[in-house]
Amino acid sequence: MTTNTTADDLIQITQEGGVMTATFNRPEKKNALTHTMYEAMIDALEQAEAEPGVRVLCFRGAGGCFTSGNDLKDFLGNPPSDPKNSPVMRFLHALIDMKKPLAAAVQGPAIGIGATMLLHCDLVIAAPDAVFQMPFTKLALCPEAGSSYLLPRVVGTTRALSLLLSSQSLDAATAAQWGLVTEVASTDQFDAVVTERLNALAALPPEAVRTAKALVRDPERDAAHEAVNREAAQFLQRLMSAEAAEAMQAFLERRQPDFSRFE
Ligand code: COA
Repeated sequence: MTTNTTADDLIQITQEGGVMTATFNRPEKKNALTHTMYEAMIDALEQAEAEPGVRVLCFRGAGGCFTSGNDLKDFLGNPPSDPKNSPVMRFLHALIDMKKPLAAAVQGPAIGIGATMLLHCDLVIAAPDAVFQMPFTKLALCPEAGSSYLLPRVVGTTRALSLLLSSQSLDAATAAQWGLVTEVASTDQFDAVVTERLNALAALPPEAVRTAKALVRDPERDAAHEAVNREAAQFLQRLMSAEAAEAMQAFLERRQPDFSRFE
């Protein structure tokens, strides 16, 4: 196994055979994603796509949590200013354009972009304790990562609306039933199942795998890019709103938000 670490080890890149793994490695903050981490993930996507020996790139999180989504302190203090070129936007467009298969091994919380990025993954294996949440309305934000377009296609419009409007959580079994997750693997077998599925995918003829992925993903590709851009325009406005400031400040201060003064 080869190991490369990136800035501050926040994204740890490992490779074993044809399987490259990018691990969110900020467990003390539940792997909340910062600009630096998005930059490192863009590098990982580019590296995986360019390196002929890599057959699949898998995302996972350290410390029993996938990721708690975008760092809320970053949202408050260092919001993405350029909707076209911010690290998160470049990451999302790179995810959509990835030709090789993408996978995710999800344990614990997968929140915000931690849940929506799964819509761009071709294989999602969840542990029984995985919890999926898109708490955009709760944070006074709006759907992102193309979720307003892709989620209804994956789970159906009614379920997509229930997730995106109510900010409710989804457990692993329901996520699998709804099609957001490929498979739930038991806790004690989780690593073994992930390794087995990824190695099996990596052993297949790579051009055939890329062709199958392209045939499924290409018809939605332009629409997914457009959805990401459409959402970003709204998202940046929401991020600057007093409602969002109250929601995020409340989380960081460990108190309930108070939206009663807003019309
Ligand atoms: N951004 C910044 N910091 C975060 C974070 C995030 N998205 N998620 C967690 N953290 C921080 C907490 O502030 C806390 O920091 P502290 O120890 O300095 O106080 C630390 O990570 C541990 O989080 P905590 O909430 O105590 O852990 P938990 O196990 O009780 O709950 C979560 C875990 C993931 C359910 C909870 O942290 C959470 O809901 N996070 C916010 C998710 C979110 O709204 N993401 C944005 C989506 S757009």
